[in-house]
Amino acid sequence: MVLPLVPLPSSITESTGALSLTPATRIIVEQGADAAASVLADGIAERTGLHPAIAVDAARPGDIVVRRTARQSEQYTLRVGETAQLEGDEAGLFYAVQTLRQLLVTDGEAWVLPHAEIDDAPRFAYRGVMLDVARTFFDVDTVKAFIDRASSLKFNRLHLHLTDDQGWRLQIDSRPLLAERSSTTAALGRQGGYYTKDDFREIVRYAAAHHMVVVPEIDLPGHTHAIGLAYPEIVEEPVMNDGLLAQAEALSQPLPVAGEPYLGWGVGHSSVKIHDDATWEFLRDALTELAELTPGPYLHVGGDECLGTAQADFGAFIERVTALTIELGKTPIAWHEAGAAEVAEGTIGQYWGSTTPSGAHADHARRFAERGGSVIMSPSNTAYLDQKYDADFPLGLDWAALIDLQTAYEWEPTAIVDGLPAEAILGVEGPLWSETIETLNDIDQLIFPRVAAIAEVAWSPAETREWASFRERVGVLGAAWEAAGWAGHRPAEIVWSSR
Ligand code: ACM
Repeated sequence: MVLPLVPLPSSITESTGALSLTPATRIIVEQGADAAASVLADGIAERTGLHPAIAVDAARPGDIVVRRTARQSEQYTLRVGETAQLEGDEAGLFYAVQTLRQLLVTDGEAWVLPHAEIDDAPRFAYRGVMLDVARTFFDVDTVKAFIDRASSLKFNRLHLHLTDDQGWRLQIDSRPLLAERSSTTAALGRQGGYYTKDDFREIVRYAAAHHMVVVPEIDLPGHTHAIGLAYPEIVEEPVMNDGLLAQAEALSQPLPVAGEPYLGWGVGHSSVKIHDDATWEFLRDALTELAELTPGPYLHVGGDECLGTAQADFGAFIERVTALTIELGKTPIAWHEAGAAEVAEGTIGQYWGSTTPSGAHADHARRFAERGGSVIMSPSNTAYLDQKYDADFPLGLDWAALIDLQTAYEWEPTAIVDGLPAEAILGVEGPLWSETIETLNDIDQLIFPRVAAIAEVAWSPAETREWASFRERVGVLGAAWEAAGWAGHRPAEIVWSSR
């Protein structure tokens, strides 16, 4: 039998037999594992309809024991025999519970856990997904649903792309017109919106309960047209060079007009005024409020696609904004173009070029490591969750690639940027841009099943990753996604089982 475990654990030993779940099955809590016990009870109830009691007691055969230990963070063990035993620190136990949920299979009559010994730990510390809430605004419940899906696959970072040309999505008390004016629209004239500070805190809380750290992004100095609806004095007139005009024509979308909402998805035409004191007062205030709201260590400051900005101005901006972020007590993250500049020491780069880097992309990525930072790999032709699966897929864009499931799976983060030391790769992220999507169902269509491929790239040891094995496991796991109400795309390259 195929154990539908994704991402594949570091070590699994299967044996014959299975532990049956019955109405008498209990969850035994040891040493402060209450949080994991309740997540486990909910997970079992959702999948099987059984409601195991949680008890502090000596374990009997058939019980599931959850034990908190001082293991290295995120590591866990899961033993299924006469009892099931889960051990780990708090994060490790959360992942042990996710693995146990995937192990639950029905033999037609009863729900069982196949006997197995699993020892597991992640390959990369940073395992992220990104949601673009700027092109389309997604409400708090949708963000929570996204967290449910990602955390079930052991992602531990939620990157929120909070601002772009089409909208600004966060309340900033010192600049109230951002919420009042810059948030009201979205791409294609969709309904806008923003998170109040309490909304944002609720997202952070829910993410933390699922062992995900929120990485908020204010995209700068470009992708800032929407700021100009509220504070026009700090935003440049849209730049329209030949490349940008050709892009607007190819998209058949109107050109951006200063002070008016931009509803298309052309990129690269906007910038804040890089050398003005008013801009830096704005940025200091906005980033200070964001840093105060954000318990996680990172602030993402963008840095991509400043297509109409002189390189010297761009460099001066990146130098200053990364230094400001450090002054605010956070580690800056920036898209790889920022590596053209003297980023502050320790800045993390996010590589979004191709798996065969073009131009200076590889130089830019290496620069972060040279300056004591590290790199997150999000190659756009394999890890971008918003690209179409195939030319006929109704959702998504295709400017980077058509990304079928195998393409999303078969890439190696350490084999992309020559000369970037493996230890400088902090991890992997799958971004979901939202130009073409509006609903949770649209999100599911684009992320499932590819997000599982990215999860395995991020978590599982490189030497154990194998497409033939992944496609079998994911084909069985699809049934669990369906039971959870996570309707995704079901590409024909996978044999989907109904178990
Ligand atoms: C990007 O796709 N512009 C980071």
